[in-house]
Amino acid sequence: MYQPGFKNFVNSGKSFGKVAVLYGGTSAERDVSLKSGRAVANGLREQGIDILELDIGNQGVAQILAATFDRAFIALHGEGGEDGKVQALLQLLGIPFTGSLHTASAIAMDKLKTKQIWLSASLPTPDYRVLQSSDDFAACLQALGGSVFVKPVHEGSSIGMTCANNKEELKAAFEAAEKFDSEVFAESTVVGREFTVAILGETVLPPIELLPSNRFYDYDAKYISNETRYLCPCNLTPDKNKELCELALKSFKMIGCSGWGRVDALQDEAGNFHLLEVNTVPGMTDHSLVPMAARAVGLNFSELVAEILYISTLGAR
Ligand SMILES: Nc1ncnc2c1ncn2[C@@H]1O[C@H](COP(=O)(O)OP(=O)(O)O)[C@@H](O)[C@H]1O
Ligand SMILES: [Mg+2]
Repeated sequence: MYQPGFKNFVNSGKSFGKVAVLYGGTSAERDVSLKSGRAVANGLREQGIDILELDIGNQGVAQILAATFDRAFIALHGEGGEDGKVQALLQLLGIPFTGSLHTASAIAMDKLKTKQIWLSASLPTPDYRVLQSSDDFAACLQALGGSVFVKPVHEGSSIGMTCANNKEELKAAFEAAEKFDSEVFAESTVVGREFTVAILGETVLPPIELLPSNRFYDYDAKYISNETRYLCPCNLTPDKNKELCELALKSFKMIGCSGWGRVDALQDEAGNFHLLEVNTVPGMTDHSLVPMAARAVGLNFSELVAEILYISTLGAR
């Protein structure tokens, strides 16, 4: 079983052979992935690991087939890289890689399927409606409590996502989301606090509370603004902290995820948690959230990326 803080990689003396760091890709999150991938490659190099950097472009399959490597660290975000396609290719080629296998990756990329699986297991996630242009937006808004977040089903980084509080806003939000995805849904707004929980192997790292200065944790708050504050360890009561950690791990496993990842959740004013999504390839720049949670248990960035790679060598995924 994986033990954070014990630096299993450092102590294992393992050699990984040639490790390809796959980054870039062609999704809307390419820019973030370029940053994640380069940071990961530098971190792994610091640990003495033999790295091949692969900036995946339009010819990603040909690039992967042409390269020679023993294992992959997947630092691709969004469609084509985080959604199970690259994972399926690597599985077919028999090349081990970091993070979830292809089916779990594909489900986690689909926010709607993810919610449906959680609901089937009575795990809490905000109420939702799938949206179509012919829908009665006023009725939908009312059914969801008068305030909603409208989201493309398959995007990340808050892309194409807007909060709507009346039917005109809902229509505009739907049209904005539709530009990114043929499937769009509206979800009840949860007013309260926001947390994110990193998972490393079987271990839950300390939850982080996000305190964005913007209205919500949007693209700007994630990657541009310096005004978002983060609390890790956060100041939940020990009971609530335990509840959130258990919920995060359960929700992660329910989707079939493995290796590493991050679960986003909200807490309403009554103290109840609501799951938002699982990220199977979370951002991995120095300022990202998983590295922040790892630091809280004594793992620095380069040790963390080596640990993630180490976990990919363990059989049970
Ligand atoms: N139902 C909701 N209620 C309140 N805030 C939300 C809700 N859904 C999303 N948000 C806000 O939007 C951000 C992004 O939503 P999320 O579902 O995690 O998608 P992404 O893949 O873009 O990170 C969240 O971190 C949170 O700040
Ligand atoms: Mg999120």
